[in-house]
Amino acid sequence: MGARPQFIKAFALSRELRRKHTEILVHTGQHYDYEMSKIFFDELDIPKPDYNLEVGSGPHGEQTGKILEKLEKVILSEKPDLVLVYGDTNSTLAGALAAVKLHVKVAHVEAGLRSFDRRMPEEINRIVTDHVSDILLAPTKTAMAHLKSEGIAKNAHLVGDVMQDAMEIARERAKKSKIISKLRIEGKYVLATLHRAENTDDRGRLSNIVDAFLESGANIVLPLHPRTRKVLENSGLMKKIDGKNIKIVDPVGYVDMIALMDGAEKILTDSGGVQKEAYMLGRPCITMRDNTEWVETVDAGWNVLVGAEKKKIMEAIKNFNPKGSRKDIFGGGGACGKIVGILEKFEKK
Ligand code: UD1
Ligand code: UDP
Repeated sequence: MGARPQFIKAFALSRELRRKHTEILVHTGQHYDYEMSKIFFDELDIPKPDYNLEVGSGPHGEQTGKILEKLEKVILSEKPDLVLVYGDTNSTLAGALAAVKLHVKVAHVEAGLRSFDRRMPEEINRIVTDHVSDILLAPTKTAMAHLKSEGIAKNAHLVGDVMQDAMEIARERAKKSKIISKLRIEGKYVLATLHRAENTDDRGRLSNIVDAFLESGANIVLPLHPRTRKVLENSGLMKKIDGKNIKIVDPVGYVDMIALMDGAEKILTDSGGVQKEAYMLGRPCITMRDNTEWVETVDAGWNVLVGAEKKKIMEAIKNFNPKGSRKDIFGGGGACGKIVGILEKFEKK
């Protein structure tokens, strides 16, 4: 693991895995700022990583290559029975490749997700990881269907989403969070996150989003990913935001994030994890992307895709008010237990 959402997934699975097994935790160092990494180890009881490869940031090939090179040494010396990878980051891809090349079995948590947009770095990471993995652990029925249509369903299992397990623990803890008063948030607010490469690295899309936020007049709270902060500062867009209706804060810990989402009137995001959490919490989600892997949330009427179109974003901030019950689409919890059971059966084969 190496990126923020992976620490949260590991928070749920690691505790379950360690009941009967030895886990050697490798942090690739893809994320390294305190608020993007250590905060999660400090506040959640994720075990301290046994290794930190400290690869840091860099272009895709360089970052993936560095992880591959360093991880190979760790796998050779630790000789694990299995390498488990989460999600779709460069750390995921490098982890899976390093293991499979050494003939070590690979399990992929969050297998089968597709956006069908190969310009997304995550899409390439997912496809390659799924196709080299021995055990595919899918969170949704749609993910299972994708694996089937690609001819790799033989070792796929529908286990539900480990983020539902994480949410169940964090939700209790979030009741005690003081983040709303700490950030001096008053009244109704919309919680926003923004970091997807397709939005941050495209000047047109990014300024449409900023303009939509500003012109909506909504009270927007934006815990800002360092990637986006850098782009906003370097492009001069940050000056436009200063003193206006967008409250920019540093990224927050997971428990505080759940509290912020739970307290929000609506959620604006381009994150994968946040779309799911909005659904679990019953908050309307406005997704600033042209597609989503979490199609069930859109089909259920609780998530709307607005791309980076100013009018659509503003319209949704004003009028997107889904109502009605939400059926369970993430397996209802217990994904971690199911994963450990599957790994054990696989081991005995
Ligand atoms: C990565 C994942 C993305 C995931 C996201 C979670 C890939 C290709 N992308 O995107 O799928 O949704 O993590 O947050 O793996 N930076 C810092 N400090 C940090 C980390 C990053 O300043 O601790 C800045 C650096 O300028 C870096 C940029 O953010 O170049 C991008 O970081 P990187 O890890 O490459 O991608 P993310 O956008 O974080
Ligand atoms: N998150 C967090 N603090 C923040 C923003 C997000 O703890 O300031 C959590 C969020 O609740 C979710 C995960 O980070 O569990 C999502 O990570 P991110 O959006 O970075 O990546 P993605 O899910 O898009 O890969």
